[in-house]
Amino acid sequence: MSLSRQSNAASNPGLASALKTARAAYLERNPKSHAAYTKATESLPGGGTRTTLVVDPFPLMIDSGRGSTITDLDGHTYKDFLSDYTSGIYGKSNPVLLDAIRSALDQGLQFGAHTAHEGRFAAGLVSRFPSMELVRFANSGTEANMLALTAALKHTGRNKVVVFDGAYHGSLLCHFHSGDKGTPEGVVRAPFDFVIAPYNDISGTKALLDPIKADVGAIIVEPMLGAGGCIPAEPEFLRELRGYATEIGAVLIFDEVQTSRLSPGGRQALLGITPDMTTIGKFFGGGFAFGAFGGKREIMEMFDIRKPGAISHGGTFNNSPLTMVAGATALEHLLTREALERLNNLGDYMRDTLNRDLKASGVPFHVKGLGSINQLYCTLPEQDRDAAMEVLFFKLLEKGYWVAQRGTLALNFENNPEEVDGFVSAVVDAAGMVAAVAASTA
Ligand SMILES: Cc1ncc(COP(=O)(O)O)c(C=O)c1O
Repeated sequence: MSLSRQSNAASNPGLASALKTARAAYLERNPKSHAAYTKATESLPGGGTRTTLVVDPFPLMIDSGRGSTITDLDGHTYKDFLSDYTSGIYGKSNPVLLDAIRSALDQGLQFGAHTAHEGRFAAGLVSRFPSMELVRFANSGTEANMLALTAALKHTGRNKVVVFDGAYHGSLLCHFHSGDKGTPEGVVRAPFDFVIAPYNDISGTKALLDPIKADVGAIIVEPMLGAGGCIPAEPEFLRELRGYATEIGAVLIFDEVQTSRLSPGGRQALLGITPDMTTIGKFFGGGFAFGAFGGKREIMEMFDIRKPGAISHGGTFNNSPLTMVAGATALEHLLTREALERLNNLGDYMRDTLNRDLKASGVPFHVKGLGSINQLYCTLPEQDRDAAMEVLFFKLLEKGYWVAQRGTLALNFENNPEEVDGFVSAVVDAAGMVAAVAASTA
């Protein structure tokens, strides 16, 4: 298996031809994006700097965004149903957020010092997540996870980190796969001593870990596999994992970088399960680069530099005043219980409606997920799935909808029920076309 983004080849001739036609139409529709991308390849390997966004033959270049709409360099507009892979929860131009950011800009940039907003933001987070008695900030979810793992290993004096099959914990931790799939070619991973356990399988996990339990310092788990396909953890699995981590003396970390948008206190609050540490990131930065890790006082106090032997944790932008103001403002004014409930109910409605209508149309697609975080799946034979998803992606762009080519769907506060209905019709229509093409030569 390779992570590199080479052209998808369908074994189904109808799909192969539809893909060729769709790519050619895309090229013709988007000359300015194509030119900007071609220029970018002169200085950026592969023409970009975020592998997730790669599109064959080239990605679109976005010029601006308002509300739930983005506009590309060639002037096409798209309703955003990706929301920057869950991170763009506020839409593109929330006035409360933009005003706060503008006034922070007016205060000046980069003081190389603390501001009162740092403690204000931390207090807001700590009050929402009982599992974070103390919290520290970083610049990404990846960094937050690496710092949390480091803290857990130091706290326990052990060396093994347990992750789960299908998990994604950030760029330097990457996707974990056990069994036949193995480690994808191209994965470069921070050198922790990882053990990959089966997700949603507590007896398999215990059987794997029991013989090495004295060495297990950290168990990190997503309450729903996000990039791994929006597969929710069974509540009972997480509950038993909680108990098992305590039993073997390991630090249990919930990576809620994505799932923290499911309620004011993340999925852990919905399930009433308290891990020893929690990591978050993405939208909590109010539109800026952000990550945070927090946990039990006795673990996090290792970072208290007033104490002998404390862990040093630098980072030029850990407390960037702009991020602190944007994050605190979003937490206090935008990420309310009502707003999150409305968003996640809309996501449930979208998933249910899509699944109902896709099923009624008899097309080989369905959706999995929780609340506002979802994943579109194709159930054609495996060798044709990537090509089918790619044709679907191009069709949705033509219809004015922005999603991830891999099928990630995430809502933002600016999406409304009418938009969702329009999106559902567009997906069902595009899926029907893909299915018809595939069936014509299958
Ligand atoms: C569950 C999870 N953890 C960690 C990360 C990494 O966050 P970042 O991209 O900010 O490094 C992601 C990013 O998608 C994620 O989904």
